[in-house]
Formats: sequence, structure tokens, C-alpha cells
Amino acid sequence: RFRIMTTALVDPRAETRTGSRTPTPRDYVMCPPEHFAVEYVINPWMDPDRPVDVELALRQWEELKRTYERLGHSVSVVPAQPGLPDMVFAANSGTVIGGRVLGSRFRAEQRAAEAEHFRRWFAGNGYREIVMPSRINEAEGDFAWTGGLLLAGTGFRTDPEAHAEAQEALGVPVVSLRLVDARFYHLDTALFVLSQGEHPQIAYYPEAFSTGSRRVLERLFPDAVVADAADAECLGLNGVSDGRHVVLPLEATGLAAKLRDRGYEPIHVDVSELRKSGGGPKCCTMELHG
Ligand code: ARG
Repeated sequence: RFRIMTTALVDPRAETRTGSRTPTPRDYVMCPPEHFAVEYVINPWMDPDRPVDVELALRQWEELKRTYERLGHSVSVVPAQPGLPDMVFAANSGTVIGGRVLGSRFRAEQRAAEAEHFRRWFAGNGYREIVMPSRINEAEGDFAWTGGLLLAGTGFRTDPEAHAEAQEALGVPVVSLRLVDARFYHLDTALFVLSQGEHPQIAYYPEAFSTGSRRVLERLFPDAVVADAADAECLGLNGVSDGRHVVLPLEATGLAAKLRDRGYEPIHVDVSELRKSGGGPKCCTMELHG
């Protein structure tokens, strides 16, 4: 028995297993799904013939917001607008790093007007450096900040030229990654950042990326949490981490087990209604980094 204890003390992984990961308070922006609907098809998850329950979507959204608040994070709310059924997916409307804002430019005509509502919100909330992109740029849908690098997706929505534009506007190094599976049309459906800092950690689904991009991810993140098809197919990679607590869809049980193994604390939320539009917790959550 004594020997087992000694082993535990020298095992470098023991620290994370006993839960020493430290959360940091975050600032999030969300938009209630008051006008939520699936009326058009811009990704393979959307089926206008399948009814959506707006009341249920609102309850699920409220629960997500309450979860963040309970964890000590701040949530600002941008008012919903009639005629913009996807505006609940706030992550697609801005990338904010170090007080600089890069707005968005949507690929789909149906979502185009969302960008200006968010631009106005930034302007009214003390942001002085706001750049609106000239290329298609779906913001945090395709951009993930590790604390040192901006991982950037392309292939379905955001233009590759928007990556260079982001590097220039935000002054951070950008790493381009190519998505190859239409079900995982945004980077945030296939990858998310678990912890920032000197050695950031991510979780991702390799099959959603091109061969070259997969190699880049392996090189940059050799100890990443590698998700499988079941994790990805419930949009489990659309998670939100504060460095310790990881908010995930209810169904992402396999991924949750892997995260627990690495010292994270998974917190499940039900996003069944929002998933009918191809969204999960992260899509509903824009983070204001610094
Ligand atoms: N229906 C929306 C679209 O296809 C869902 C966006 C989900 N957001 C996200 N960050 N993946 O644009």
C-alpha cells in the first residue's frame, strides 16, 4: 500500500488527475434564440421540414447562460433581431483579441445582416478598434485562439484570404487549417481549445481536416485530446472551456471521459434544438479575449 502511494506521488499525471487545472474567468457574448428557426439550408444539419421548438431552444439557451454564470463567467447579451433566425450563433459575428475586434462577413446572404448588429454592439460597448473584413469571415466559427496562435479554418465558409486579413487586423500569428467534411463546416465543429498558456491544449476530430492540416495539428499539439466519430457527430467538439470546466453537449459522453482523464471537468448541457441548425454550445458563445 505504501508503494502505491509513492508511485502516485511521482506520477506526473497524478496532478491533473486530482484536478489541479485552474479555471480563469471569461467574458462571453450571447444572443437569445427569440427568432430561432430553420428556414433555409446552409449546412447538412439543417432540415426545414423538421419542426423546431422555439420555447425549448430558449430554455436550453437560458440554461447554457446560467451554466456560464454559475462558473463565474460574465455574459453580455446582444438583442435578437426578427428575420435573423441564426443570430443565436453569436460566435460567428466577431473575433476579439486584446481589445481589437475583427467583425464578420457571412457567406450566406440570409445571415449577412447579423454582422452589422454586432458591429454596433461593439461600437456601443467601448471598442475603439473595430475592423470589418473584406473577405468572407465567419469569425469564431472558423477562428480559435490558443493564447498564442489563432487557428483558422477554411474550406466551407471563411475564405483563406480572410486568414491573412485576421493576422493583419488582430496582430496575432494565424495558422490556416483546411476542413474537408461538410458536416464539420466550421472549425468550431471539429476543434476547440481546452487550455491556453505556454502549452495550450486542444481537442479535435482529425477526420474533419485535410491530411496536411492534420499533420500541422499533430506537430503543434502532440498531446491533444483526439476525438472520435461519435464525439464529433453530436457536435461534441463545439465545446467551451475555461481551462478546467468544459461545457459540452449532453451526448458527448465519450469525449467527456477522455477530458476527465486529462483533469478537466465536463459539464453537460442539452442543445438538441440548436443542433437542428448545426449549432452547439460554442456556436452560441462569442468570447471576448482580453
Ligand atoms: N445555421 C448556422 C449556419 O450554418 C449554424 C452556425 C453554427 N455556428 C458555429 N459557430 N458553428 O451558419
